[in-house]
Amino acid sequence: LYLRHFGPKIADEAGALALAVKSGPISSLGTDNPLAYPVFGESGRWINRFGGLKVTHDNGTVTLDLIVEKIERDGEALKVRWRDAVHDFRVIQTFRPRADADVVETWVELVNGEKGAVRISRMSSFALVFPMLANDWRLMSLTGEWGSEGEVVDKPIERGRRIVLDSRSGIRDAWHNNPAFMLSIGGPSTETDGRVIGCALCWSGAWEMSFRRSEVDLLEVVGGPANVAGDYVLDSGKSIKLPVAALTYSENGKGQISRNFHRWARRHWMPNGTKERPTLLNNWEGTGLLFKESEIVKIMDGAKSVGVEMFVLDDGWFGLGEHLRNTDDRGLGDWYVNREKLPNGLAGLADEARKRGLKFGFWVEPEMANWGKCDLLEKHPDWALQEKGRPMRLGRGGTQVVLDFTNPAVRDEIWRQLDAAYSSVPGLAYIKWDANSNIENVGSTYLDAAHQGNLYFDYTMGYYDVLSRQRAKYPNLDMQVCSSGGGRMEYGSLRYCDEFWTSDNTDPRDRVKMQWGASMFYPACAIASHVTVTGRQVPFKYRVDVSFSGRFGFEMQPKSMSPRELEFAKNAVKEYHRIRPVVQQGDLYRLVSPFEHDYSALMYVDGAKTRAVICLYGLSRDTRKNYLPPLVLQGLDPAKRYRLRELNTESWRWPHSPLLGKCTDFVAEMEKGAAVPTGEALMKMGLPVSLGDKDYDSAIFELIAE
Ligand code: DGJ
Repeated sequence: LYLRHFGPKIADEAGALALAVKSGPISSLGTDNPLAYPVFGESGRWINRFGGLKVTHDNGTVTLDLIVEKIERDGEALKVRWRDAVHDFRVIQTFRPRADADVVETWVELVNGEKGAVRISRMSSFALVFPMLANDWRLMSLTGEWGSEGEVVDKPIERGRRIVLDSRSGIRDAWHNNPAFMLSIGGPSTETDGRVIGCALCWSGAWEMSFRRSEVDLLEVVGGPANVAGDYVLDSGKSIKLPVAALTYSENGKGQISRNFHRWARRHWMPNGTKERPTLLNNWEGTGLLFKESEIVKIMDGAKSVGVEMFVLDDGWFGLGEHLRNTDDRGLGDWYVNREKLPNGLAGLADEARKRGLKFGFWVEPEMANWGKCDLLEKHPDWALQEKGRPMRLGRGGTQVVLDFTNPAVRDEIWRQLDAAYSSVPGLAYIKWDANSNIENVGSTYLDAAHQGNLYFDYTMGYYDVLSRQRAKYPNLDMQVCSSGGGRMEYGSLRYCDEFWTSDNTDPRDRVKMQWGASMFYPACAIASHVTVTGRQVPFKYRVDVSFSGRFGFEMQPKSMSPRELEFAKNAVKEYHRIRPVVQQGDLYRLVSPFEHDYSALMYVDGAKTRAVICLYGLSRDTRKNYLPPLVLQGLDPAKRYRLRELNTESWRWPHSPLLGKCTDFVAEMEKGAAVPTGEALMKMGLPVSLGDKDYDSAIFELIAE
């Protein structure tokens, strides 16, 4: 089975098949078409000496040569059953189209029918050889670590080079590199122009994707879980299912790729992706670990007065005996309420929230424990990941370690504790699941010596096991995944979770860039964005406006808002609730990149094209020059006429700013209803906008079709 086309849909199948017989010579070394799942060692295929799968058979030989046994339809999906020509080793490859989003989900299952164990050194969810689509390839992906998530990097792949994107943390696997990419074919692409392939690997553990451009411009792309600790040992009679990769294609630049991913995620991938996500206030940046029940109740009063829908209690509510979580070196692993802090328990707080019309949620970090400082590890020291004979490597607080989630007994106990805590809270609405470590101790007391190499893969499967138990028992619980910020901004976690904490860095200027980057692959409903008190002096309005382009919330003491800020916040929350369906469920169009300009703009349009929301953010800008060109809008209905309103206005802000010129007047006219331009005009001439002479001026507009 060959891969002959990865591009736009071809309506006439016969026409496509006429071309699909065999391509011309694709290299001086061979003429074969690439297989749909190239592996290491295929006979006669010079191009595939690398391949997506590399194993050592039970007799010590090292190559594979796959032949198709059967191709089956499974509903919409296509299943290809491959078998090695010599060994009883099988690969079941599935392609599942999601036509309404233009996405194909693909994955493989490896089945070992050999007499002994097979060692797998490279295992890819997808392995694609693009046969001479172009002489120019560019790779766009996201990089970043703590506080710098979501940085867009877009560079050519040079001929003869191999580029590797990977993450080896085992846990914070969207740091360093995010497991998703866009490939521009035949030259650079923009937001609106160019042929682009998009791919997201839905995996939360260590992973690797590589891009090898040959001397004759074939591009070989493979990606899947990375066996960081050594070969994965697949015992005789066993099988392993590799994670899904979501693939998509656009003829119209990167913007379309993002919209495809967003739609696919909301409709087909995330657990409750089409549900509106709540606004909330989280206490972490307001209190840290040290709080009293009475203080939390006061914060709830503040949350109520701001008008958000939920209160979320962060780290610090649990612990046992000497290990109460009052400092960050203790308590993880013991998910029991600290009655000194919360005499009425979580249920008491939930009740206080309910009295104020707020929903309630709380924080957990289930995969972690504190070495020597928690009851769990005192009873079961072997339940932490550890290497025989080597001193423990200790993380946060000088004590944090990762629990051995390859071990079902550990998962059972952690789930027992979580379930007890969750079920003690009537009406529990939200869980923030955090994870603040990498796998530092690379060893498991549960896995035997021969299977230590399985650690990273099995760990991630253990994480999914607990998440899926949680989803099954609490299907409507909203869940945020967090890993020291955006360490788990990826679709493996989003299979079970509703959103991610985008970054611990809540500086709004930095967030403009991070959220832009995150939006390349992830929908606004999943991008948690909270208004906080930050070091940089930035107007409150700007902080709020930046949080509008995500799932809006607050992470501060409401009492630290001035009366004017409080009024502004209340109004903003109401406005966000009104525009929420457009931002969270609409189509995103990125208009002006903060990576290329000293301002940024993006917009969301609802499915019927009757409503749109436009966000405009000035970055640090020169004064008295660099006036903004009109914002050339996208995604509107050319025939509809749109009325405009500015939201979140503040007295000092445009249109009253003294430096502004005629364009301001035009928008003011639109607001009065005197000018009601068509979608066509807004998309061809653009919306005249302006930013004030302050560094951090911003604006939110709403367009409503007449
Ligand atoms: C790291 C997270 O990123 C923060 O939001 C907060 O939940 C802390 N952990 C709590 O320890």
